[in-house]
Amino acid sequence: MKKRIVLFIAFVAVIAAVTLNGCGASEKLTSKIGAQLWSENCLRCHNAPDPADYSDEQWEVIGVHMKLRANSLTDMEVSKVVEFMKSAN
Ligand code: HEC
Repeated sequence: MKKRIVLFIAFVAVIAAVTLNGCGASEKLTSKIGAQLWSENCLRCHNAPDPADYSDEQWEVIGVHMKLRANSLTDMEVSKVVEFMKSAN
């Protein structure tokens, strides 16, 4: 039970952080974080893929595929990478 409360507080804190960061240059902030996650994670196994190599729909599929491959990225991290790829292609 206690664990659930802690998880809930952590969840609220994350939402609050995201919401607060959302004020101002949110677009830039999001793509910077996506870009960072991309350069830190997607180079581990192969060369960093070029955002322009795939369409928006393909990036969605690749995100799921690489989340399974990497096995260390959260849904939120993967969707940030995918958003970055879609904003840069
Ligand atoms: C654990 C290793 C690993 C990580 C981390 C990884 N990949 Fe991959 N990736 C692979 C392998 C292996 C393939 C070859 C295709 C396959 O999965 O069979 C691949 C293939 C690809 C392809 C070719 C298309 C496809 O789906 O097969 C793209 C694009 C790609 N990765 C993008 C990414 C992106 C973006 C990230 C970061 C979110 C990433 N990869 C992280 C292992 C990895």
